[in-house]
Formats: sequence, C-alpha cells, structure tokens
Amino acid sequence: MTHKIAVLAGDGIGPEIVNEAVKVLDYLNADMGLGLEFENGLIGGAAYDETGSPFPEATITLTKAADAILLGAVGGYKWESLDIAVRPEKGLLGLRSELELFSNLRPAILYPQLADASTLKPEVVAGLDLMIVRELTGGIYFGQPRGIRVLDNGEKQGYNTLVYTETEIKRIAHSAFKIAQKRDKRLCSVDKANVLECTELWREIMDEVAKDYPDVELSHMYVDNASMQLVRAPKQFDVMVTTNMFGDILSDTASMLTGSIGMLPSASLDCNGKGMYEPIHGSAPDIAGKGIANPLATILSAAMMLRYTFNQSVAADRIEAAVNSALDSNVRTADIYSDGMQKVSTSEMGDAVVNALKAGV
Ligand code: IPM
Ligand code: MG
Repeated sequence: MTHKIAVLAGDGIGPEIVNEAVKVLDYLNADMGLGLEFENGLIGGAAYDETGSPFPEATITLTKAADAILLGAVGGYKWESLDIAVRPEKGLLGLRSELELFSNLRPAILYPQLADASTLKPEVVAGLDLMIVRELTGGIYFGQPRGIRVLDNGEKQGYNTLVYTETEIKRIAHSAFKIAQKRDKRLCSVDKANVLECTELWREIMDEVAKDYPDVELSHMYVDNASMQLVRAPKQFDVMVTTNMFGDILSDTASMLTGSIGMLPSASLDCNGKGMYEPIHGSAPDIAGKGIANPLATILSAAMMLRYTFNQSVAADRIEAAVNSALDSNVRTADIYSDGMQKVSTSEMGDAVVNALKAGV
C-alpha cells in the first residue's frame, strides 16, 4: 500500500524546514516500510512567480489526488504589494478551502527541556499540554461581502463579514468534542457572544452538540478573557475550540508558552481525516536562507500526519520521542537557544532527530 504525500515547501524558510521533515520521514519510511511517496508542488509566492497564481491548477490536482499534504510556509516582503487576490496567503487559504480542511488542530506542548526558553515563569508553563481546535474554512477569513469601497463622501471604507452557518459550527464542535474525549475531557469554547451575534449562535450550538458528549465538560469563555487566561494560567485548559480568526491569534499566544513559535505543529483535517500538515509559524523572510530556522514544528507536523491520516501511531510516537531525545542532547536552534546549550543549524537539528531514530528511539 502506498501513501501519496504532496510536498509544498512554499516561501521563506519553507523549503529549509520542509527538507528536514522529509529527511525524517524518508528515514522512517525506509526503516519501517511505511510506503510513503513524495511529490513536490508549488504554493504561495513561489507558485505566483512561476505561474502567476499562488495556488495553480497543477497544485489543486496534486493535492486533491494526494492522501496528505506537507506544507512549509507562504508569504514574504517581495509579494506584499501584490493585489490581495494573488498574494501568497491566498494560496494557503485556497488550499484549506478547496479541500474543506475545516478542523485545525494546534497542540501546544511544553517540552520540559525548553522550560527556560519560554518568556513565562517555569511554574506557569511546566507540564503544559493543550490543544487548540481552530475552525479553518469559515468565519471572517472567508465571509462575503468583503473589500475596500469608496463611500458617498469620498472616504474609503474597508469591510469584512463574520459569518458561520449552523452546519459549520456543528462540524467543528463534533471534531473538538471527539478530541476532548480522547484527552482530559474538558472543552472550552471561546467566543465573543457578548458582542457578536455570530458567536452567540456559536455558543448556542456548542451547548446543543454538548448533549451528544455527556462525558465531556463544556465551558465557555470570551476571547479577551481567554487571551489573558492563556498567559495567566494556561494549564487550566485541556482543549479549546474557537473561530478561524480567534484561533489564529490564540494559537500564536499559546506557542510562546512552549518557548518558541518554532515548536508548534498543526493538522488541518477534512471530514474523512485527510489532512494538510504545517507548522503554525509563517515564512519568516527575515531569517530565510540562513539555515537557522527551527525545523521541529514541521517535523512534529509530519508526526501528526502519520498519526491522524495514516494511523501509524508507532511511527508518530517515534518522531516525537526522537525530538525529545534531540532536545535532551542539548542541541538548540537560535530561537530556543539558552546558555550552556549547543547552537545548531536547521539541518543539524534535522540530523539530530534522524540520529536519535537511528539510535533506536
Ligand atoms: C496561520 C497563518 C495564516 C493564517 C496566514 C499565513 C494566512 O497565520 O496559519 O496561522 O492567518 O491562517
Ligand atoms: Mg497565524
């Protein structure tokens, strides 16, 4: 049985970090006979430069035919002045939307070796293991109408629309409750129901779906409070479920609890478990090409791929254990470096993970 993986490296540090994740997958593929096959495709600014579109037809075909997608990052200074319709980010959003990857899992786990790398006090973050479930194909990111218009008085006005249908809320709710069932069975739904009708409906439907999951304890929190609680006492959370934009923001906050945004992987799943796997960080154009980016979020995304799409939990466990073991050996990329550690490059960090696998992890 073969599993086809579409590899979309994208822009900025994308190619560097994806290389390391493929290196790790290649090793496991040979070692465990996983039957993985890779095919490269274009996305984002790289795709725009070559084809005039950030999400070209060939990539649509490739990703639809693939069993899973591994993505690096999109975007960069070079493309910032382009029309919004062809900006690199549109490629990523197009992919999420075209494949209906509505359920975005963003686990924030603190590796104990990195307790010092977090800007928060060690006792606040020690043992942190939280999962953010972000709705990924709806909400204000995709709502119509949207644009920039000229009012009668000649002034420009920008506008976007926050919309969620019952169906969209229900499916992300089920996805989040199921994940909570496999964890500590506590789900916190984050909204702004005191101000936004759209999320008033969100809250109502969360309560309704909760009836199907009597073993999960559901709570609600306003997003402003949730952002505060995440840095005040993050360990109170098990699973959080929220809208597209709130999830975008809260997951960046959560990443800093783990020491670095370079540590957070993600899975974006459709209703059949097909998924796209990518680090939550962006293309970091300021450090691109220097070989100093942290590849661990991408390597951990590859582990999520093995777990969620290919049901290869043993192989996924091995990658996660190998990352642990690489951190135990005190190698650190610049973003997680602290005194006394050994500073390594992107590819040396990838090698450290492969070496841990070779050593029998
Ligand atoms: C993310 C990113 C994207 C988003 C950008 C690159 C479009 O910030 O995956 O969190 O806003 O969803
Ligand atoms: Mg983001």
